[in-house]
Amino acid sequence: MTPLPHRDTGAGRPISRKSLLKAAVAAGAAVPLLSSGTVALARDAAGRGRTLSATPACDDGDGPTHDQIEGPYFKPASPLRTNLVDPGTPGTPLTVSGYVFGRRCAPLSGVLLDFWQADDAGDYDMAGYTLRGHQFTAAGGAFSLTTIVPGLYPGRTRHLHVKVQAPGRPVLTTQLYFPGEPRNTTDALFDAALLMNVRGAGGGREGTFDFVLDADGTPGPGDPTDPPTDPPGGAWTPGRPYAAGDRVTYQGGAYRCVQAHISMAGWEPPRVPALWRRE
Ligand SMILES: [Fe+2]
Repeated sequence: MTPLPHRDTGAGRPISRKSLLKAAVAAGAAVPLLSSGTVALARDAAGRGRTLSATPACDDGDGPTHDQIEGPYFKPASPLRTNLVDPGTPGTPLTVSGYVFGRRCAPLSGVLLDFWQADDAGDYDMAGYTLRGHQFTAAGGAFSLTTIVPGLYPGRTRHLHVKVQAPGRPVLTTQLYFPGEPRNTTDALFDAALLMNVRGAGGGREGTFDFVLDADGTPGPGDPTDPPTDPPGGAWTPGRPYAAGDRVTYQGGAYRCVQAHISMAGWEPPRVPALWRRE
């Protein structure tokens, strides 16, 4: 396979990672690789003064308002945890780690990552929260997930689901993919820009991926630096920024914001303990 170095055009305009990867797929490359033999990560371009391409969205209808098909759904109110594996969970161990960057390469801390996935047999747990969990990036923008390799289900290639949200910024709903999967070439949702680096590790697998959010790392309108509304609060409203410490009411209950964010339908305060705490 011909290595695909990250390069600029002759006109000096950088080729975006997504464009490069799509070109590689169009050219017949099974897996777009850098000369190092690995999939390009945002960190490879960080520190070179470039503006990074934002991680693309990929939503297959697992959103909270989508109820027209049987199968996988996003469930709000996932537990706060980086390890999704319960004792006895069958499957191949998988860790996924990486960083969340803004487009100017600044690592973003306090970013909410909410993962959910199929089990080893390709089934989603709709009764409970097996293989579901959320976490926040640490200082330096790092995250790490301990899970299993998701099983296959009809119509889709192998994938992990994730919602990613920087404080006070919109939610990115997307998926992560595995190199070398036969179904990558037939799944219409597959996007090579969402491929992880994956390698075998002691009977399990280790994946790496860097998210790039359309954020520059400077405080947004809903960041904790904003003075909290304490009081007056008011009724919770979708589509507005809330800062940590803000108080709202929802269906007769009082809640305090614990993580700056932009509210959205489906993430109502009782359903997202990562964002709202009952008072
Ligand atoms: Fe899925």
